[in-house]
Amino acid sequence: MLLKKSALLSVILMVTLMFVFSFSALAQNENEVEIFSWWTGGGEEEGLNALIDVFNENYPNIEVINATVAGGAGANAKAVLKTRMVGGNPPDSFQVHGGAELINTYVETGMMEPITGLLEEWGVKDKFNQQILELSSYEGEIYSIPLNVHRGNVMFSNKQVLAEHNIEPPTDMESFLTVLEELSQTDVVPLALGDTNKWTATHIFETILVAKLGAEGYNGLWNGETAADDPRIREAFVYFDKLMQYVNEDHSALTWQDATQMVRDGEAAFNIMGDWAEGYLKTLGWTPGKQFGWLTVPGTKGTFMVITDTFGLPKGAPHPENAKKWLKTVASLEGQDTFNPIKGSIPARLDADKSKYDVYLTDSMNDFAKNTLTPSIAHGSAAPEGFITALNDNINGLVTTGDIEGSFEEFQKDMAEYVR
Ligand code: GAL
Repeated sequence: MLLKKSALLSVILMVTLMFVFSFSALAQNENEVEIFSWWTGGGEEEGLNALIDVFNENYPNIEVINATVAGGAGANAKAVLKTRMVGGNPPDSFQVHGGAELINTYVETGMMEPITGLLEEWGVKDKFNQQILELSSYEGEIYSIPLNVHRGNVMFSNKQVLAEHNIEPPTDMESFLTVLEELSQTDVVPLALGDTNKWTATHIFETILVAKLGAEGYNGLWNGETAADDPRIREAFVYFDKLMQYVNEDHSALTWQDATQMVRDGEAAFNIMGDWAEGYLKTLGWTPGKQFGWLTVPGTKGTFMVITDTFGLPKGAPHPENAKKWLKTVASLEGQDTFNPIKGSIPARLDADKSKYDVYLTDSMNDFAKNTLTPSIAHGSAAPEGFITALNDNINGLVTTGDIEGSFEEFQKDMAEYVR
């Protein structure tokens, strides 16, 4: 009787185990790779899909699970990703900005695999811009592959709107305010803003910070050479507050795509946005230099606000071999030259085929080669996550209250708390 009972128990155990194994085999289909990003629309999705096509051509038996969370520069996406990473449920690879976002949040906490060996094996380590690769590196190891370089300090314009109102593109900070004032007398919105996701206002602010501090002064904030109470920072808040007098009233209900669309529809004259807006304007049927123009944000000529999207290999990725194939695609010339012309970014590799890039992107490449680079705060490179959240809240508060002194003080407090 005893024997029979234990035999029965082992049969039950076996059946249970078989069930569990087959279930987990189902849940972890070997022939897939899950890629996480916030590229859900407006030129971004198109770029990602083109990159996935390149992957599919090379690895037809592996299915890409395209996990996207909307929000751009993604407060939402970043939170979802972090929860998954911390909870031991990482995707196979994910979009992450080079610099603090990668290093502080995921590398120092031991959540990423070093991939220097892979880059060496594929013979591509020396093909990348080394300053950009540096943002993916920590203590001598590389932890992610830069797919692109976006420029943050760009202002796009509707050429027809400017012509109709006899507006010359501004050349410095002073003439920018004059032009905005002139436009405010017309029926168009001088400066389009969509800050339902707070980062877009911070994006404008950081370009003004560069304009006031200069590239060296701005970079000095992160290496300790520029004091957090430098009076030029206060001036940046003052100037930013002036700009906010010229934005659309419904800005807090709109996204960056909506604001870009306002320029496209002739409702607004200018839009300060990263050049993913160039990708978006192209998907809306516009050609750079024809219907829309661009200039560096007044006061920032000679500097290039760097934003770099990279992909790495999380520890515990469910399909590490497939993830490596994805990374190889990201690192490849074909991948970079397919994705970037659509996305509105320039390649992180130096040996790209320049003929594939339009007039705006060629301009960006030329500036990138000769300008001083400044890493973006809003897009994760310059400062740790805590500081970005605090600055987003601070700038958002300033947009609503206009309390310049309060914002300047808060900035100093947050620098002390999160940066030094
Ligand atoms: C940035 C990202 C870009 C673009 C943008 C808006 O942070 O680097 O690739 O996605 O957000 O969504």
